[in-house]
Amino acid sequence: MSAAIQVQDKLFVPLITAEQIRVRIVEMARQINADYSGRNPLFIVVLNGSFMFAADLFRHIETQAAISFVKLSSYSGTASTGQVLTAMGLQEDITGRDVVIVEDIIDTGKTLASFLPTVQAAGAASVRIASFLVKPTALKYDVHADYTAFEIEDKFVVGYGLDYNGYGRNIPGLYVLK
Ligand code: IMP
Ligand code: MG
Repeated sequence: MSAAIQVQDKLFVPLITAEQIRVRIVEMARQINADYSGRNPLFIVVLNGSFMFAADLFRHIETQAAISFVKLSSYSGTASTGQVLTAMGLQEDITGRDVVIVEDIIDTGKTLASFLPTVQAAGAASVRIASFLVKPTALKYDVHADYTAFEIEDKFVVGYGLDYNGYGRNIPGLYVLK
């Protein structure tokens, strides 16, 4: 493994290598391909953090699938009352569609707990969640990922699309706060 890296004022150490991520995402895509065989799912990617994961996952999807993007910004006041604002909403008619929501990380679950009812109310035939990371011990909302690449401890991570103050998203592997 490579050495510690600095993102702005903080040091991060290696947690998951780019190669481990690559291998795991191929496995994940294989499972999704099997589950959605013969169907035409719509992948809804939650920006910003998910862009790299979504690109890598989607290129391994073998069924005829569509992809679209939403941008949600979460404002964390006190943890349980924090608001999730929609900076860019859903453009598509998703009536009767099999939706796969693509997230970078389920931390408290607040973002998806807010977005999921919107998707269901819009008439999706089915909704599943594919999350690159899950922090099981940080979960505060009733949100469950159907597909997860990695479960990690409740520690702050950067890389592979995830940021610290907007930086670190371009790092190919995943790093954890030292
Ligand atoms: P939630 O608490 O599940 O709603 O997660 C909200 C968002 O916080 C995630 O989609 C990420 O964008 C961000 N986030 C949560 N944990 C981390 C982390 O460890 N590093 C970077 N971003 C994170
Ligand atoms: Mg996110």
